[in-house]
Amino acid sequence: MNMQNPTPPAADQATASDSAHEELHGEIAERFDTNAMAQESTLLNPRFYTTDFDELDRIDVTPVRKDWDALLAQMASDPNKGHFKKNADWDQIDWDGMDPELRREFIDFLVSSCTSEFSGCVLYKEMKRRGSNPDICTLFNYMARDEARHAGFINDALREAGVAVNLGFLTKAKKYTYFRPKFIYYATYLSEKIGYARYITIYRHLEANPDKRFHPIFKWFKEWCNDEFSHGEAFALLMRTDPKLTESFANKLWIRFFLVAVYSTMYVRDHARPAFHQALGVDIDWYDQEVFRKTSTIARQVFPVEVDIDHPRWMPNLKRMERAFRKMDTATRKGGFAGWLGRMTAGAQAGYAFAALYTIPVKKNRLPESVRLEPAY
Ligand SMILES: [Fe+2]
Ligand SMILES: [Fe+2]
Repeated sequence: MNMQNPTPPAADQATASDSAHEELHGEIAERFDTNAMAQESTLLNPRFYTTDFDELDRIDVTPVRKDWDALLAQMASDPNKGHFKKNADWDQIDWDGMDPELRREFIDFLVSSCTSEFSGCVLYKEMKRRGSNPDICTLFNYMARDEARHAGFINDALREAGVAVNLGFLTKAKKYTYFRPKFIYYATYLSEKIGYARYITIYRHLEANPDKRFHPIFKWFKEWCNDEFSHGEAFALLMRTDPKLTESFANKLWIRFFLVAVYSTMYVRDHARPAFHQALGVDIDWYDQEVFRKTSTIARQVFPVEVDIDHPRWMPNLKRMERAFRKMDTATRKGGFAGWLGRMTAGAQAGYAFAALYTIPVKKNRLPESVRLEPAY
């Protein structure tokens, strides 16, 4: 699956032959308007980005040439070329028999993962299309290739449940957020490394607890996370081409902002899926802290500051933020003046929690001589 082969709308996706399946597919398609889910632009949903492509195109990778060429040679060798295909390891899933709450949350998880994979694909592909700098175009072409495979593979899994995200439609319908290139580096670097940490943490957990693997897609996560790891490496190298990006006072504040924003968003989003994590046998607080810890350790390669996730203010304010978002959700559904008032109050509480997290003293790192890392978890 790639962008040239947009998927038809969800309603056309039912392919099962027996009527019980068709009924279920109809019901799922009705209950989960996955295209609407993927299209929603809330603070928490994966976003689509656009940037100043000309500025990005002007990057000169000379200062990191040796590492750059090695990384691009590895991407050119395409180690995961045949990986994203269903094979004998792909077990059939009884979607009918799945607990409805789990089914809803799992589909939500797949849709949101597919959307964020695809959002990377769209951004990278656009850079490749607009640029003329051969170093930059080659890199973004490889990364777009990988993300298209990732999104396509998740979409294949969704299709078995009778639903799929219409990727072609999504490109047009989704709202794009403009970020200056340096913000793209911070946000995308982090999301690639977090993607790696999330996939590998789930993979290792299920390796130790195979009875909790309720869907075959998790078996694909090991090789998958290596793609995300190398995408993160590319952004680390891009940031290292210009010391100002990570060393100026203002940029350190921005990095701190992105760390807190990305981590707390992940925390709130994961806590919205209790049944999904329970089925995996994963304690969400443990899992999120584990992902933050891995990500922060890796990010020492390029970020001069690190959030202190063991600080006594960290967990209580993540929890406060999560409660505020839940209240906001309830208030939005309530509507009217009471709903508006509820949203304002909850918004203020979330803002307070964010400020409390942002002002936790950071740990300072001295950047290593050599940037490059290999996946180690
Ligand atoms: Fe990906
Ligand atoms: Fe990626």
